[in-house]
Amino acid sequence: MKTRIKNATLILPTGRMRADLLIDGEKIASIDPAIQSTSDQTVDASGLFLIPGVVDDQVHFREPGLTHKEDLACASRACAKGGVTTFLEMPNTKPATITRELLEQKLAIAASRSIVNYGFYMGATASSNGASNIAELSAAQRTPGIKIFIGSSTGDLLVDGQDDLERIFAETSLPITAHCEDETTVRENARRYAGISDVAVHSKIRDHAAAIRATRRALDLAHRHHHRFHVLHVSTGAEIALFADHRNLITAEVCPHHLFFSVDDYARLGTRIQMNPSIKTREDNQQLWRGLLEGKIQVIATDHAPHTLLEKAAPYPQSPSGLPAVENLLALMLNQVALGHCTLEQVVSWMCDAPARVWDMLGKGRIEVGYDADLVLVDLERTATIRDAEQLTKCGWSPWDGVTLQGWPVRTWVMGREVFRDGVVDGSQPGREVQFDHALGGYWGTR
Ligand code: DOR
Repeated sequence: MKTRIKNATLILPTGRMRADLLIDGEKIASIDPAIQSTSDQTVDASGLFLIPGVVDDQVHFREPGLTHKEDLACASRACAKGGVTTFLEMPNTKPATITRELLEQKLAIAASRSIVNYGFYMGATASSNGASNIAELSAAQRTPGIKIFIGSSTGDLLVDGQDDLERIFAETSLPITAHCEDETTVRENARRYAGISDVAVHSKIRDHAAAIRATRRALDLAHRHHHRFHVLHVSTGAEIALFADHRNLITAEVCPHHLFFSVDDYARLGTRIQMNPSIKTREDNQQLWRGLLEGKIQVIATDHAPHTLLEKAAPYPQSPSGLPAVENLLALMLNQVALGHCTLEQVVSWMCDAPARVWDMLGKGRIEVGYDADLVLVDLERTATIRDAEQLTKCGWSPWDGVTLQGWPVRTWVMGREVFRDGVVDGSQPGREVQFDHALGGYWGTR
């Protein structure tokens, strides 16, 4: 099947270009101001921008085991609607992804259930919690890397002991990423604020110090073991200053909730914005923005972590942490383009090219001949309001309910097949397993 997309403005690695693009099968076959070759289908994209599909490198899609909150079919449809063509999923499912066998089982489920491309992290375990799974982590393939919960969050994958952490960094070679909130600090704060049921206290329990201490500890491990490391969901401005000493070894990521929500929003949104790491201050929002614009943070990802509204209605601290975001991430950022806060080229760098490079993905993240035809047409003029009732995520709500945004994805292709068009998802075809080549050396590597 050949599809010609004509008259779009393409966001290429070299900048923007008004050109035609030809998809042949699963690949981008040609980019040219006027493609002459025949095609089975022509899409007139006048007035629209064509960007690479978004690569979301941090999601929790809950399958297997927690499928009342989310599953791969619903979540991947939400991705298609949101312009996310590839996701990397975290290991805190039930069972957790801690062995090669469990990883392969997850890949097999995704092969029949996900309509976008997929990859799955391996989770590290603590020796105090059963046994360390270092042998599994060392031998694992078909994975972007190893996830460590240096601070506890949903699930029971906490690895807090220094000996365990030293061994993981010393004895494994896959890239490592971590949830950084210091467990000792969080527990001390939880004791201090015990009995308070106002969810705003969540940001005092999981405070700035907790995030900064754990990030500093992880960077020290990465530095001493000379191990590639990606800092997930940076939530404080102060963490950014820590990255300066570790250039060429580490990359960092920010999530939309840490850019757009602050502690001032608890009164309005309650447990909908209860997240780990917690939401911080408006000053942190601004510093995180600056970190992105200055290139000190390279990636934007969602940390899509759905829980049902019924679960969220439990009084704090029984209410679970996490919020859904895959179907709105791109629109939230296109709206920033419309507001003049960043360019579409920067959005493509943060959400397509950079995550594909960080995780050594083959054929992803760029509009380039020979790359996979994972593509999104965006309409920067289109205005729409996010509504709980219209969310495809299984949990059926969004913390941005009622928010009107300018700039939306209108058509999505995954490996050359159209999966979303003008509000309608076509879930008939499966996505593909992402291929990784860790010899590429990550974001600072050879690409
Ligand atoms: O708030 C969170 N919820 N943060 C995470 O990192 C994981 C998560 C979840 O899985 O629910």
